[in-house]
Amino acid sequence: MCGIIGYIGNKSATPLILDGLRKQSYRGYDSSGIIVFEKEKPELVRAVGKLEVLEEKVQKSDFKGTVGLGHSRWATHGEVTEANAHPHADCNNNIFVVHNGIIENFMSLKRQLEEKGHVFHSETDTEVLPHLIEHFFKGDLPKAVRQALLLVKGSYGMAVVARDDPGKIVAARVSSPLVISVNDSGGFVASDPSAIVSHSNKMVFLDDGEVAVLESGTFTVTDLHNIKKEKEITELEWSAEEAQKGGHETFMLKEILEQPESIRNVIRGRLLPKEGAVKLGGLEEVEEKLRGMKRIHIIACGTAFFSAMTGKYMIEEYAGLSCEVDIASEFRYRKPIVSPDTAFLFISQSGETADTLAALREVKRKGGLTLGIVNTVGSSVAREITAGIYNHAGPEIGVASTKAFTSQLVALAMLTVFLARQRSMSLVLGKRIVEEIARLPDLVKQVLGQKEVIAQLAQKYASFSNMLYIGRKYNYPIALEGALKLKEISYVHAEGYGAGEMKHGSIALIDENFPTLAICPSDSVYEKMISNIQEIKARGGSIIAIASVGDKEIANLADDVIYIPKTIEMLTPILSVLPLQLFAYEIGVKRGYDVDKPRNLAKSVTVE
Ligand code: AGP
Ligand code: GLU
Repeated sequence: MCGIIGYIGNKSATPLILDGLRKQSYRGYDSSGIIVFEKEKPELVRAVGKLEVLEEKVQKSDFKGTVGLGHSRWATHGEVTEANAHPHADCNNNIFVVHNGIIENFMSLKRQLEEKGHVFHSETDTEVLPHLIEHFFKGDLPKAVRQALLLVKGSYGMAVVARDDPGKIVAARVSSPLVISVNDSGGFVASDPSAIVSHSNKMVFLDDGEVAVLESGTFTVTDLHNIKKEKEITELEWSAEEAQKGGHETFMLKEILEQPESIRNVIRGRLLPKEGAVKLGGLEEVEEKLRGMKRIHIIACGTAFFSAMTGKYMIEEYAGLSCEVDIASEFRYRKPIVSPDTAFLFISQSGETADTLAALREVKRKGGLTLGIVNTVGSSVAREITAGIYNHAGPEIGVASTKAFTSQLVALAMLTVFLARQRSMSLVLGKRIVEEIARLPDLVKQVLGQKEVIAQLAQKYASFSNMLYIGRKYNYPIALEGALKLKEISYVHAEGYGAGEMKHGSIALIDENFPTLAICPSDSVYEKMISNIQEIKARGGSIIAIASVGDKEIANLADDVIYIPKTIEMLTPILSVLPLQLFAYEIGVKRGYDVDKPRNLAKSVTVE
C-alpha cells in the first residue's frame, strides 16, 4: 500500500525516483506523482493509473533537478483522481509532501487551517500536512515539520521538501515504514529497501516518532523534540526482489508473518472501547438503513466465502440477524430473493472476482442494498457497492489468501458488533468483545511464534497424499479453509468437513494413510469434537489437533497438538487458521512448489 521515494544528491533525481516507484509498485497503488526541484523551481506531475502514465507525462518535460520526491498512492481518503494524488502542496507552492498512512484527526486540523485562511484542493487527509507545516514554517523546514507532527494523530510515513529551505529532505514515521540510505551518490528515503538496495545496501530503518533530515551526503535523526537519536546502519544482503519480500523467501510467508500488522491496520481507528462499540466510517451513510434490516446475505468466492461462513455464525449469534451465505457462482444463477429488509454483503480481496462482481450487479439490478468488505482500494467491487469496509491489509501478492482472510474475519467481527450494538447487545458485552478484538495482534503474534514447531509437524506429514480437516461451528469454515490452503499450495488432496457430518460418509476414508487435522479449541462444541476425534482414533486414523493453551486432555488423544491462546469463541477462527496457513506453506515448500504462484491458479479470477 503506497510507495514513497525521495532522492537528494548530485545526480538527476527524476530517473532515480521513477525507478524507485517501479521497484515498489508491487505494494499496490492507484495513482502516482513526482516533484523535482530545479534550483528553486518545483516541477510537479501527477497521474491516475499505472506508473507508465506518469512516466509518459514526465518524459514530455525535461526535469533536471537533483532533489525530488515520488509517491504511488493507495487511496484511503478521497477518490482516485489526479487532484488527490501526491505530492500535496501548501498555499504558497513552497512545501511539498508525500505520505503513506492515515491522518486520523485530519478533519479537525483541516477545519482549523481553513479558519486561518488555508485553501485546500483535494479530498485527502494528507493535504493537511503541507498546510500545517506551512503554518509553522519560518525558514527552518525540519523545525516546522516537528512542530506540525506534534499535532497529528494517525499513521504516517512521509517525506517533505521546501522551495524556501532547499537542499534537504525531511522524513518522519509513525506506523508506516520508512528507510533511508546515504552514500556518496546521494541520499535516499523510501517505504521499503527494495527501492534503494540497488544503490546501497546500507540502510537506516526509522522508528516511530523519529524525524530524519537528509542533506547531500549526510543525515541526522531526532525525535519530535529535536533530541538526537543514534541509529544503527543495517547492511542488507538482499536483491531488490528479496527486499520486496522483506527478506522472506516468498510473498506468502511475508504475508502470513505480517498478520499482526495487517490486523492492527484493519482495527486502527475503528474500536470504541469505552462505548463497547465500533466506528465504521464506510457504513455511516447506510447506518440507519442497517438499523432496520432483518437479514444479511453474504456472497463471495473461495477463501472469502469461508470468511462469509464464519461471519454467519458471528452475526446470528451476536446480532440476532438471520444470515444467509452463498458462493457467488451459484448465487448469480439462482432466483435469489432481493427484498428491502435484506442487506447484501460482498467479500472480496481483489474486488475484481468476476462471479462476485456479477452477483453484486444482479442484486443492484433488483434494487438491493449492497455492502462490501474489500481489500483493494478503488477496485470494481469497492466502486460499485453502496457502502463498505476496507480491510487495509495491504496488497496481498501471494495467490493463496492469508492476511486478507484474517482481516476479513476481523472486519466481520467489527461489523457484528456494529449491527449488534444497534440492536440488543449490551454495553458490557460490547466492551468485552471490543477488548478481545484489540488483543488480536498480540495473540496472532504468539501463534506465529510457533512457526518452527509447525514446520517440523509439516515435515512429519509431508508425504501423505490425503488429509481430512474437521471443525464445528465457528471452526467449520476454518476446516474448509485449511483444506483449501493445503490443496492450492501443495496439491495434496484435502477434504474439509463439518465434524458432525463425518459419520455420514467421510469417516469411511479414515485409515493410517489418511490423517486428520481437528480444530478443537476449548469452546462450546469441544466435547463434541473430542468424540469425533475418538471415532477417528478408533479406526486407526492419526490426529493433529489445534487446541487451546491449558487443555490438559488433548495430548493424551491426539498424535500432535498445536496450541493457540484463548479468546472469545467468535474470534477463535482468526487464531486457529494460522497454523493451517503455515502447515500448508511448509508442505508446499517441502514439496518444492512455487507457493507464491501455484499451478493453474490466478490471484484474481476475473473470468467466470
Ligand atoms: C484463496 O487462497 C484463493 N486465492 C481463492 O480462493 C480466492 O480466495 C478467491 O478467488 C476469491 O478471491 P477474492 O477474495 O479476490 O474475490
Ligand atoms: N491517506 C492518504 C491518501 O488517501 C495516503 C494513502 C496511502 O498510503 O497511499 O491519499
